[in-house]
Amino acid sequence: MTEFDFDAPTVIRTKRDGGVLSDAAIDWVIENYTSGVVADEQMSALLMAIFLRGMTPGEIARWTAAMIDSGDRFDFGDLRRDGKPLRLVDKHSTGGVGDKITIPLVPVVMACGAAVPQAAGRGLGHTGGTLDKLEAISGFTAELSKDRIRQQLQDLGAAIFAAGDLAPADRKIYALRDVTATTESLPLIASSVMSKKLAEGAQALVLDTKVGRGAFLTSEDEARRLAATMVELGWASGVDTRAVLTDMDRPLGLTVGNAVEVAESLDVLAGGGPEDVVEITVTLAREMLDAVGADGVDPAQTLRDGTAMDRFRDLVEAQGGDLSVPLPIGAHTETVTAPRGGTMGDIDAMAVGLAVWRLGAGRSTPGGRVQFGAGVRMHRRPGDPVVAGEPLFTLYTDTPERFSGALAELDGGWSVGAEAPEVRPLIIDRITRGGNP
Ligand code: URA
Repeated sequence: MTEFDFDAPTVIRTKRDGGVLSDAAIDWVIENYTSGVVADEQMSALLMAIFLRGMTPGEIARWTAAMIDSGDRFDFGDLRRDGKPLRLVDKHSTGGVGDKITIPLVPVVMACGAAVPQAAGRGLGHTGGTLDKLEAISGFTAELSKDRIRQQLQDLGAAIFAAGDLAPADRKIYALRDVTATTESLPLIASSVMSKKLAEGAQALVLDTKVGRGAFLTSEDEARRLAATMVELGWASGVDTRAVLTDMDRPLGLTVGNAVEVAESLDVLAGGGPEDVVEITVTLAREMLDAVGADGVDPAQTLRDGTAMDRFRDLVEAQGGDLSVPLPIGAHTETVTAPRGGTMGDIDAMAVGLAVWRLGAGRSTPGGRVQFGAGVRMHRRPGDPVVAGEPLFTLYTDTPERFSGALAELDGGWSVGAEAPEVRPLIIDRITRGGNP
């Protein structure tokens, strides 16, 4: 196809007016955006049209395939350990607040005998990204060549890497969505997640599909449809794909940010840490191990006996990181204290996510730098007893001028009352093939 077969204004107009994009138009726009013929402002307009008009299942499948075709496709099917093929399995989250699960999960799955080729992402909107978090570890690099990923999978059983040459169209579109308010879109999330994941060479995939105030999709119906869409896309490419629907009304764990979330993940790997982080880690690990028939070892045991921590240290060292260097937690702090005694009420994940973003943990311009030290620590969970005057939230940043904006975001996102709020279960459902609602 040449750059003259279509033109961007016509493609944008078709979607703006509620039409269906042809396969050829989708292939053209993805190919020519990746190569720079279609400009950022044209793709921004198209993304907003998709955001507002949606896409048919056929358009989503083609958009995903075109993004996969924009780059490389890994195949690690020839890798062997003890004469047997490696069991390659990965997970991806649709994005949440305090969602640090990849950090403890990958070493748990390694310790249970499966291998994880994990193409991870950067922060998107009010949600954090695994790469921004892990890069808070001194020296850690996620820029791995294909050969290095292959070698790490063979030697250690995992690699956590920037998608790089995998789905480069998604890399550009993801960065553009982050700064054009086009993140909260089912077709754009499904195609973004699945293009990277289907290109990375895993045999099985588990999708942690977040639902609630701090997720991109807030209604359970929509999140179910997203999960079912991704599961179908996975199976259509021959990958055993399952989704777990999990709550994102309140933040996960007690920390949100970059370095603070790494510190909390280390607590989990040391056998402690918040219960909700441990519960999701173990649930997703069981699902991943089941998908590749590697269910002989109990994932929870690897957290208790230190084997997951050992694997994490191996992984960080292999990727240049030095865990003996203190994590760069923000130099300036501000504390929010309890105005009265009582019971901690609800904590709104979106309010906390936006506060952390304002503290500097996310981006407002494409390719901008994040502050590793920016974050929030919560001292109470919903339902905990609270004493008047005690600290409820500690905010961290390296740029104290950011405190007032962050405090304004947090304001109204929490309460102290007389009774414990109702909390829905953390693990809401499991969605497998054919479960299309
Ligand atoms: N993760 C992704 O890779 N893409 C999205 O759009 C959301 C979460």
